Amino acid sequence: MTPDRLILEFDRALRAVAGVVRASRPSPAQQVPETPVEDEQRVHAAALMRVNHVGEVCAQALYQGQALTARQPAAREALERAAREEEDHLAWSAERIRELGGRPSLLNPLWYAGALAIGAVAGALGDKWNLAFLAETERQVEEHLTGHLEALPPDDRRTRAVVEAMRADEAQHRASAVQLGAGELPEPVRRAMRLSSKVMTTIAYRV
Ligand SMILES: [Fe+2]
Ligand SMILES: [Fe+2]
Repeated sequence: MTPDRLILEFDRALRAVAGVVRASRPSPAQQVPETPVEDEQRVHAAALMRVNHVGEVCAQALYQGQALTARQPAAREALERAAREEEDHLAWSAERIRELGGRPSLLNPLWYAGALAIGAVAGALGDKWNLAFLAETERQVEEHLTGHLEALPPDDRRTRAVVEAMRADEAQHRASAVQLGAGELPEPVRRAMRLSSKVMTTIAYRV
C-alpha cells in the first residue's frame, strides 16, 4: 500500500470513530416533519439508533478491511461504492441520535478495531469468501433493521425514514455482492456472526 493510501485509510478510520462524516446524499429524515414522541419512547429510539450507528461504524471498518484486500477490480469498485453509502448511513444515524438527544456508543473505537480485523481476515481468504461474508452481513443487518422498524415508536416518522432508507441500501449491497459471485457461508459461521452481533447490539443499546 502506498503511503498516500495509508493516510487516506487512517483518516477514514478516525472520522468514522469520531463521528465526523459527511453524507453524500441528504438524510431521508429531512423531508419528514418531527412528530411529538413521549420521553421514554424517545430515549428508546435514541438507543436503537445508537445500535444502528455502531453497526455502521462496523460497516466502515469491514468495508475498509475488505476493500484493502479485494483482488478483482469489479469487487473492489462495488465495495467502495457500498462503503460510500455506508458513510451516508453513518452520518444519518449520528444526526438522528443527536436530534433525539442521545449519544453515540463510547465503545466505538473498540467496535471499529474488531470489525476491521474481521474484514481483513475475510478479505485475505479471497474474493469468494470476502463477498460471501459481505452478503451475509448485509442480510443480517437487513433483518436487524426490520426488527428495529417493529421496535421503534410508530409515531417517530423521522427515525423510521432513516431506518427504512438504510434497509433498502443494505438489500442492494447484498444483491451486488451476490451478483459479483458471493457464495453461501457455512451455517456455523452464520450462527457465530448472529451471536456476535447479538452481543454487540445488546451492549450498544446501553453503552
Ligand atoms: Fe449501512
Ligand atoms: Fe450495507
